[in-house]
Amino acid sequence: MLSRILRNNIRRFSTLNSSSLITNVDVCFGCSWGDEGKGKIVAQLAKSKKYDFVCRWAGGNNAGHTVYLDGNKYKTHLIPSGVFYGINSIIGPGCVININSFFEEIDYLKKNGFNTDLIKISPKTHVIEESHITEDKADYGHQGTTSRGIAPCYRDKYGRIGKRVEYFDEFRDYLWDGNLNGNILCEGAQGMWLDIDHGNYPYVTSSTTLPYGSCSLGFPPQLINKIFGACKIYDTRVGTDPDFPEYLMDDDELLNLAIKGNEYGVSTGRFRKTNWLNVDKLIMAINVSGTTDLVISKVDILEEYGVFKLYYKNQLQIFSNIDNMKTFIEEKIKNNCLMLNRMLFSGDPETVENLI
Ligand code: IMP
Ligand code: MG
Repeated sequence: MLSRILRNNIRRFSTLNSSSLITNVDVCFGCSWGDEGKGKIVAQLAKSKKYDFVCRWAGGNNAGHTVYLDGNKYKTHLIPSGVFYGINSIIGPGCVININSFFEEIDYLKKNGFNTDLIKISPKTHVIEESHITEDKADYGHQGTTSRGIAPCYRDKYGRIGKRVEYFDEFRDYLWDGNLNGNILCEGAQGMWLDIDHGNYPYVTSSTTLPYGSCSLGFPPQLINKIFGACKIYDTRVGTDPDFPEYLMDDDELLNLAIKGNEYGVSTGRFRKTNWLNVDKLIMAINVSGTTDLVISKVDILEEYGVFKLYYKNQLQIFSNIDNMKTFIEEKIKNNCLMLNRMLFSGDPETVENLI
């Protein structure tokens, strides 16, 4: 209630540009370790034509989004999915950008007939340089990074010696004026447990993956309305993480689930380690992020696989069928997540029923 009153009172709030008028902000956020199906949610929301801007607030081309459109499958790493639906697409100041990879994505989108004039980058976005990539490959291998230069680039940013987009002439046609207006959708990258503060440090990425990070685009937190949290009905993880040990893949049941679920990373093609859903961690992710609308995907995969297990209070729970498992999840989450308004289960790689 309080937030609705505040939101109405700040309808006339101006962003960095005094002529702008934001009416609403919704955020899509990953509740797990990335790869939760955020792309599917963002694409469906963007397709609804409700939004005037789709924005990325963190990360770089370490992310990977898959969008299905008119029977075709498209993959992007940095450019927000708004471009697929004719919506302004902003790369915010909290992101990092690789020049070659950005222009490769621009060419790919142009070749496929999308309007790349809609894409704008904040002049404050930091640029990933060749030296960052070389250093990532040489010194961060033990963390299982994506080798895209993310950590060294953010280190230079926070060490205040980084180079911003504004110094690079290559981006002159794509500079964002800082203006946002109307209805805004913010597209998260990675997820809760890869967050620089809340993840299993140092096995994390170097940015704020939580929804509050979206305010770095230049609006106050009171404007955020819905937070769509994405997760799967089982957990997956790429990259090194003692919470997600390599020996999980020695378990035939989990290995076969990963194969059945086609668990390969969009960005690096790496196989994803797979484990049963950790409900305790999911509850924490929902509560820390303020998730209002939870989408649990890949229910079809588990249903076809026919093994129904999860962890709750660190104990393995086994169910005889998918419906019993869904009821259990629903009850535990409802009782423990008081800010959550709805929970949707999805078994379709392209859409979420009743999302809008
Ligand atoms: P970095 O972001 O490349 O530095 O990688 C840090 C950690 O985050 C590694 O464990 C990566 O595998 C993981 N990671 C980074 N981006 C993604 C993503 O989009 N999906 C899943 N894992 C990711
Ligand atoms: Mg992804």
